[in-house]
Amino acid sequence: MIDVLLGLQWGDEGKGKIVDFLAPQYDIIARFQGGPNAGHTLYVEEQKVVLHTIPSGVFHKGILNLIGNGVVIDPITFKAECEKIESMGVNLQDWLLISQKAHIITPTHKALDKAAEMAKGMNKIGSTLKGIGPTYMDKTGRNGLRVGDILDENFKQKYQVLKEKHLKILGDIHLEDEIQNWENDFFESVEMMKRFQIISSEYWINEQLAQGKKILAEGAQGTMLDIDFGTYPFVTSSNTITAGLCIGLGVAPKWVDKVYGISKAYCTRVGSGPFPTELLNETGELLRKIGNEFGATTGRPRRCGWIDIVALKYACMLNGVTDLIITKADVLDKMSQVGVCTSYEIDGKETNEFPYDIHNLSIKANYQYIPQWDKELSQCTSYSELPKSFLDLVDLIQQQTKVQISYISNGVGRDQLIKNKKKIKKIFLFQKYIKKFTQEFRKK
Ligand code: GDP
Ligand code: IMO
Ligand code: MG
Repeated sequence: MIDVLLGLQWGDEGKGKIVDFLAPQYDIIARFQGGPNAGHTLYVEEQKVVLHTIPSGVFHKGILNLIGNGVVIDPITFKAECEKIESMGVNLQDWLLISQKAHIITPTHKALDKAAEMAKGMNKIGSTLKGIGPTYMDKTGRNGLRVGDILDENFKQKYQVLKEKHLKILGDIHLEDEIQNWENDFFESVEMMKRFQIISSEYWINEQLAQGKKILAEGAQGTMLDIDFGTYPFVTSSNTITAGLCIGLGVAPKWVDKVYGISKAYCTRVGSGPFPTELLNETGELLRKIGNEFGATTGRPRRCGWIDIVALKYACMLNGVTDLIITKADVLDKMSQVGVCTSYEIDGKETNEFPYDIHNLSIKANYQYIPQWDKELSQCTSYSELPKSFLDLVDLIQQQTKVQISYISNGVGRDQLIKNKKKIKKIFLFQKYIKKFTQEFRKK
């Protein structure tokens, strides 16, 4: 079977840490979409590592890591990442596989990304400028270069054709120096990629499934950045939700088992776009400071706000989340109270649905507040040690989403994770029974 782990917010939920924690339970970790716009942070023996393209299972011996066909790869970032990981003593060559169908980000894709953002001016998406959008556009426009092409003796010609096309689009936007600089590194990095196993990954992964191997698909970005269901147009260019894994790995839905949905205990967003629970005040700044909310890929300050249950419920629905994992709970220790947005008010009407044109609407977030807890979460090591007030927050999230919270993360380290052994299913069954009983009673 294949389990999937993905972000339920606007990215940076702490996916890297959780994949690294869960990895020993799996034979294979596979990335299925996105590219170097992702920045997944993990701590290996107290050393901080940020992964962009390579799956977060690489620091565990004996686990295979696959970069699936749905991923877009920048050879330059990839090479730098490999060098960093290999310098830490990891033998990547034997444990990393790359799909021949993954698309390649070229220097002119990055130039196009920059030009598109410049043209949008005030309305810019706040892209990471890693060339993601233009590369996916070339993929769907049927012009892209794929990893398999680097093995073709005509690769440089194919590259040149694409480059000419891009230069025409760029017109009089002069980014020649930048393109030239990237180009030298690009070809060197493409050569380096050839030492990896470049495979027909859809055949390979289905063979592994048939043999009973356990696979974890590692999502990137977050549900609210999904190209179809996110806060369009302020989104990324791929399907970040569970459905994306079938496309991004070539796996049929029948194989999908657990869906781990990761959400911070509050909310962040980097880049532009709507954010109904954003706190543009001292509390928002405090969250940024305590949570060290600065982008792992670009270093930009992340916008901060309270947890948004309307968006979270929407994300749980779209992904079919079976297990919720709440991260960065410890960051709330210092808050005098914790806001939980349970509904929106639009034009005086209350709603629990995530609206279509959220960008142009004036939304008021309605909050329930949880009082400050009297014990530091970062000091807790088991569920029974968690303070009552925080458990009220856990209950509220579970009640609202109807999904079990299986872990609570309370620090950056691999072991700073508390398992929730208290199952909610019985509570919901009981509630269902009460509801049915009340309905029957009313009928009579
Ligand atoms: P990802 O993109 O979803 O993998 O997340 P990022 O790595 O971009 O950002 C998450 C940040 O939060 C990283 O700096 C992590 O080290 C950190 N982090 C993850 N879990 C926790 C936690 O429970 N508590 C705290 N304080 N930090 C955490
Ligand atoms: P991880 O995997 C947070 C955001 C960008 C921008 C929008 C479009 O680390 O959670 P793009 O470069 O994809 O064209 O940018 O999406 N974005 C992310 N925000 N975490 C990420 O990845 C992101 N990947 C893209 O900031 O607003
Ligand atoms: Mg990140």
